Amino acid sequence: MTARAPFGSPCSSYDGANSGNRPDDIRAAVNDALSRIVPPEVEPLQLSAAMRHGLLGPAKRVRSILLVLTSDLFDGPWDTAVKTAAAVEMVHAASLVLDDLPAMDNATLRRGKPTTHRAYGDATAILAAISLMNAGYQVLSRLADVPAERRADAVALLCEAIGPNGLCGGQFRDLRPDRSGGLADLEQVHHGKTGALFAAALGLGATISSPAAVAGRDFWTIGMAIGLAFQGYDDLLDAFGTASQTGKDVHADAGKPTIATVLGRAEGEAWARRHLEQGLQLLDDRGHGQSALADYIRSLASTLVRPLAAAKGDA
Ligand code: IPE
Ligand code: IPE
Ligand code: MG
Ligand code: MG
Ligand code: MG
Repeated sequence: MTARAPFGSPCSSYDGANSGNRPDDIRAAVNDALSRIVPPEVEPLQLSAAMRHGLLGPAKRVRSILLVLTSDLFDGPWDTAVKTAAAVEMVHAASLVLDDLPAMDNATLRRGKPTTHRAYGDATAILAAISLMNAGYQVLSRLADVPAERRADAVALLCEAIGPNGLCGGQFRDLRPDRSGGLADLEQVHHGKTGALFAAALGLGATISSPAAVAGRDFWTIGMAIGLAFQGYDDLLDAFGTASQTGKDVHADAGKPTIATVLGRAEGEAWARRHLEQGLQLLDDRGHGQSALADYIRSLASTLVRPLAAAKGDA
């Protein structure tokens, strides 16, 4: 019989993955870590299955790649960075399971599959999301190579990104949009619902790897700029992309303020690119303009915009 590991148990090695920290290597190592942290055989089996449904599959792992490449700037150990990235992906996956619920976006498709509540029911999806979030915090709290004080900072940073000043606050505002509020209100929504977790990804990459107490906060700001750009492209893809490009429902945001509906396509793309460039400038100001992290952020502009280039029409 296979030995049962509790959720959040540490993953000891990622054989063959440490071959250069390129985005593909990072994605593969994080996927492998996630599959080990949330194994299929933990009871109740339906709950484990729902957790894996929400967690695994063809995710882009953008936050993970940003986190590990940030850690690389400070020569952080690969295993620790991959585990930290896995923790962020668990929290991110939980946020998607909740975001898709009927009480929120009522989505049917996620990563090319039925959403978790469509496959397992609303109650199981909610419990899977809570389990994923808590398992993610547990992984962070157990990072062996990080001094205790910085490990506590890491947990606090991720909690802050999810709370009322971060993702939950942004999601709350997103469901009750101020339709007369314009771009400033929309930016406040996007700061919370998406910017904060990107900010945490870069902030965590720095916190686990740099002894400088300010590094986490410093990289938080850079991540926020990248996260805003990312949500801008996501809004544009909802309006102008197809379900086969995104693996999720499209035209779901038609009736609410988004970068696509408030700014339109051309201005929306310019807005997103401006935020990416702001992130790159902040990185350059800190002496990291020529780094794998900067290269990856530059590549995001073209990979995220590519499906839009193939799409025609207006919102
Ligand atoms: C989707 O995030 C939610 C947003 C913040 C737009 P991703 O686009 O990173 O989703 P996955 O993880 O690749 O599926
Ligand atoms: C959701 O934004 C962001 C979070 C899950 C916190 P969206 O609602 O635009 O994300 P998608 O488009 O469903 O992935
Ligand atoms: Mg939403
Ligand atoms: Mg949604
Ligand atoms: Mg969206």
